[in-house]
Amino acid sequence: MQDLWIVGGSGAALEVWAVARALEATGPQAWKVRGFLVLDGPPEFDPEGLEVQDESAFLAAPPTPSTLIVVALGEPSLREKVARLYASKGFRFATLVHPSAIIGPASSVGGGSVLMALSVLETHVKVGEHALLNVGSSIAHNGSLGDFCSLGPGVRLAGWVTLGSRCDLGVGSCVRPRVTLGPDTRVGAGAAVVADHPGAATLIGIPAVPRPTS
Ligand SMILES: CC(C)(COP(=O)(O)OP(=O)(O)OC[C@H]1O[C@@H](n2cnc3c(N)ncnc32)[C@H](O)[C@@H]1OP(=O)(O)O)[C@@H](O)C(=O)NCCC(=O)NCCS
Repeated sequence: MQDLWIVGGSGAALEVWAVARALEATGPQAWKVRGFLVLDGPPEFDPEGLEVQDESAFLAAPPTPSTLIVVALGEPSLREKVARLYASKGFRFATLVHPSAIIGPASSVGGGSVLMALSVLETHVKVGEHALLNVGSSIAHNGSLGDFCSLGPGVRLAGWVTLGSRCDLGVGSCVRPRVTLGPDTRVGAGAAVVADHPGAATLIGIPAVPRPTS
């Protein structure tokens, strides 16, 4: 039995815990949730008796073969930084797929990623490492997500959409077929993205346009 530690103490960690609990409810898993590794202060939720440890202290000790990590930090660049740190110390990552999520034919999910309830990879979809797909998000055929992407609740990606690394799509946003967004694109809640963008920008509105930098 492996110990699963969830890195984070905010909403994303609570959501990832919900996925782990749903999996545990389906039957014995190869792991058991041991607790939370927090970056700054106590969790924003009741850990219900699970352990809470400071993640920097945890990182200082060498990993044991029975330790599994899932990095549950919503912000993609922070998630990448923390995941790379754990990887460099030799920690291994869990990939969690909620029992109600659908992974369609010829689709794949990278290590460390989490698919929350009712998320759907339709067919021929590739999801990179350490992605967080929130409840009810869906990726239609031939979609591709780089590493460390976050899809908010109810995000809809149409067919042939490609997202670079660390893209962060807000709740209820959608992306038109065949659009490509470069790394570090943020998409605001409710936006409709209809054209390619090279990345490193925040797109908002319908149709989505880059938010002016002040
Ligand atoms: C777009 C976004 C990233 C901008 O965040 P921010 O930089 O903190 O921006 P602010 O909240 O300070 O808002 C700046 C301006 O943009 C506007 N704005 C913010 N989000 C917007 C959106 N989604 N669509 C249109 N306008 C938006 C604000 O009204 C504000 O306008 P003003 O300057 O005229 O008052 C954020 O608002 C957003 O939509 N995030 C999605 C979060 C999410 O869904 N996460 C899922 C977690 S499970």
